Parts: sequence; C-alpha cells; structure tokens
Amino acid sequence: MTQTVPPGNPEAPTTPGATAADSGASASGHEAEAAAGRGLPAALKRRVPKYADLAPLMQFKKPEFSRAARLRRASTIWDLRDMAKRRTPQAPFDYTDGAAEAEISLRRARQAFLDIELRPGVLRDVSSIDLSTDILGGPSRLPVGIAPTGFTRMMQSEGEYAGSQAAAAAGIPYTLSTMGTASLEDVAAAAPTGRNWFQLYLWTDRDRSLELIQRAAAAGNDTLMVTVDTAVAGARLRDVRNGMTIPPALTLKTVLDASYRPAWWFNFLTHEPLTFASLSRYAGTVADLINSMFDPTLTYADLDWLRETWKGKLVVKGIQTVDDARKVVDHGADGIVLSNHGGRQLDRAPIPFHLLPEVSAALQADRSEAAIILDTGIMSGADIIAALALGADFTLIGRAYLYGLMAGGRAGVDRALQILEKDMERTMALLGVSRIADLTPEHVRLLGT
Ligand SMILES: Cc1cc2nc3c(=O)[nH]c(=O)nc-3n(C[C@H](O)[C@H](O)[C@H](O)COP(=O)(O)O)c2cc1C
Repeated sequence: MTQTVPPGNPEAPTTPGATAADSGASASGHEAEAAAGRGLPAALKRRVPKYADLAPLMQFKKPEFSRAARLRRASTIWDLRDMAKRRTPQAPFDYTDGAAEAEISLRRARQAFLDIELRPGVLRDVSSIDLSTDILGGPSRLPVGIAPTGFTRMMQSEGEYAGSQAAAAAGIPYTLSTMGTASLEDVAAAAPTGRNWFQLYLWTDRDRSLELIQRAAAAGNDTLMVTVDTAVAGARLRDVRNGMTIPPALTLKTVLDASYRPAWWFNFLTHEPLTFASLSRYAGTVADLINSMFDPTLTYADLDWLRETWKGKLVVKGIQTVDDARKVVDHGADGIVLSNHGGRQLDRAPIPFHLLPEVSAALQADRSEAAIILDTGIMSGADIIAALALGADFTLIGRAYLYGLMAGGRAGVDRALQILEKDMERTMALLGVSRIADLTPEHVRLLGT
C-alpha cells in the first residue's frame, strides 16, 4: 500500500495504512499526537500549573466600596453619567440630562463630534504636552471651563461649591449662573483662589441687573457672561412628564424613588433648602422668578448699556449664526460663546461645532481679537481638542461636570476634570502636537465633506 507523505511535513500521517486521502484517519492521528504532546513546541504542550507560575498572577485585593474607589473606576464621562443615573432621583437627573422638545439639538451636537476624523502627524517629540492657554486676559491650566448651570445644589447638595472648588483646584475658570443655588459672595469665599466668572440673565429692569453686576464686580469676577438665547423658556418635555418641581416635592412617586436613592434624599433633606442665592431678595415665588429670567424684550440697546456698565471682560453666550457673532463683537463683546444652551432651548438649532469654522473665518476676516468659546455636546477631551483645532479659543462643559457632581460630589467633579485632561493629553500626543497653539484645522476632517 502506498502512503503519500508530503516531504518535510511533520504533521503528516504516520500511521501505517493511512493515506492523505483518508482525512478522517489523518485528523484523528494528529489529535492523538497533539494530545500526547509529541511534535509540539514546548510552549504549546499542556502541563499541570505550578504554584510558582500562579503566584505572580494572584492579585486578590480587598474590595473597595469608597466613593474614591468607585469614581476611579470611571474611565469616561459616560461612565460618570451611568453612576449619576443610579444615584440621582429621576426628576433632577432628567432635568440635567434632558434637552428641549425631541432633544435633536443635543443629539446632533454630540454626533457632530463623532463624525470627524482626527489626522495625526508622526515622528514629533510629544514627550511633554502643555494644555495651558490664555482666555479673556487671564490664564487657564486647561482649555476648558465650567459652564453656568442653574439649580446645581438640586443635582447634588455640594452643587456650586463643588464646581467652583474643583475648577479652582484644576486652575480653570468657573461660571456661576444667575440661577445658581449659591450666592456670588459664597462662591467667592469658597473658591478664593479660583478664576470666577458670573453668568447674567439680563433684564430690561436695569436696577435689578445693575445690582447683580455690581455684586459680581465686588466679588472679584473678571468676566461677565450674558446669556441671550432665552427669550422664552425651552420646552423641556422630560420635566413636564416627570412633574418636575423646584424644589422637588415629596409625592408618592418621589418617596418611592427615595427608597432606592437614599443618599441623595438624605443629603437633600439635611442641607439648607434650595434658593436662588444671588436673588434671595426677590419677593415672588420661584416660578415667578424663573419666568422673569427670560426677558423677551431684550435688544442690542440692552447689550450696549451692559457694555458701558460692566468694566471687565464681557462675553455673549448663545450665539448661533455668523451674523450675530459679528454683530455682538461690533457692539463691544470681548468674546462669544457659540452655544445652543446644550440643546435646552431651540430644538434643531445650529450645531456650534459645525458653525465654528465659519465664525472663526469671519472674525479673522474682520481682524477681530474676540475670543471664540464653544459649548454643547462635549463628552470627551478629544471633543475639546477637535474644537480648538477648528478655531475655538476655549470650551465650556455643562453636563460633563454635572454627571461627575451627581456621581460623587466634589470628588466626582474632580474625576470628570481628570478624565478630560487625560483624554486631551493623549489625543494631543497621538496627533503629534504638544501645544494648544499648534493645533490647526488640518488636524480635523469633518467626515462627508
Ligand atoms: C442642568 C443645566 C442647567 C443650565 N443652566 C444654565 C443657566 O442657568 N444659564 C446658562 O446660561 N446656561 C445654562 N445651561 C447651559 C450651559 O451653560 C451650557 O450651555 C450647556 O450645558 C452646554 O452643553 P453640555 O451640557 O452638552 O456641555 C444649563 C445647562 C444644564 C445642563
């Protein structure tokens, strides 16, 4: 009987009587040999593990359940969001997480950051990455600051104190909202080394506006950010569906919710009640006050008055067209925030990240020195780097820090900022860029263009 054995093939059948055509016999012969370990490299032969091999692999640690350990396990802002959702009652979580109407503006803004290609340069020395920058006449250790957010102590009781102190520790600006639940003076006292900015809802009632402006200056704020995308309130449908009230009311639903989010309710009920701390002298109800924040009669004449009245840097927040960007700069703004209010006002509004190249080109053509700040949709440090590459001078985060706050108070905001910083450092190194000033539009390609 002839046996066809390809020359030099160690796996060829050796059993007498077997042929290559007899594939079944061949395979079982091979398996038998492999099982016996014959003909295999030493590393592929099975053996009984020895203790000395196992010892270095055994790294059993005592499980840690502390807040710090929990937060360390978050690697992304989305992880912090998951933690926040588990720890916060539905109404305040949705108030933060949600946006207006069908939430298209927010979804598109986040998607816009994903629909890009980041284009690296290789063989650059990126052993040291410098993320520091100057914005509005002062330094910031990172190219991002904290956006103004109202009712912050409702999300987690450390609220504005956690935000301002974390920002001061990170060396970045913090913006207190007119709707803040800590006062201008309390934030200045809590974060005395921080760069504190104040966000103003301007009223045509100038006495009321003036009082806040003077207090902001006295409390050491170097920048006033006037928000102009709130002629009326956006339709936040999650709040309507949740029957959201401020402060949250104790109803059957919220008491049930409290049973599995006890820490939030314990904190909430054992701290000072929520107020608009900078407006505590307002005589009406909270609902009246909220409605009064949105003044549909405002015009450029009010902006001119503000420019004359406020001596520090003036930034206009909520710019959504190239024309308006140019116009507010002509009226004396030192900076603009390209923002659709985190998708919380007009649904299907322009996406700030898409608007950025045009606005940047227009202001450059006008030889304007006004700062371009961008917010809405930022969920990673790479989003920030992409915005800077396309012409932003600075960025702001709203939800990204609030998820951290809800996940773990001050330590959670610290964690959010650490995550973003690490993201930014890594993205810059992989792009082959070591300084913010070296980022250019060449580093980003909008897919589909
Ligand atoms: C819960 C919450 C409250 C906010 N309150 C204010 C506010 O009082 N004044 C303001 O100008 N913008 C406010 N904003 C908008 C933010 O300043 C910022 O424009 C927006 O959050 C950016 O989008 P992002 O959350 O995707 O980062 C708020 C946003 C959130 C999420």
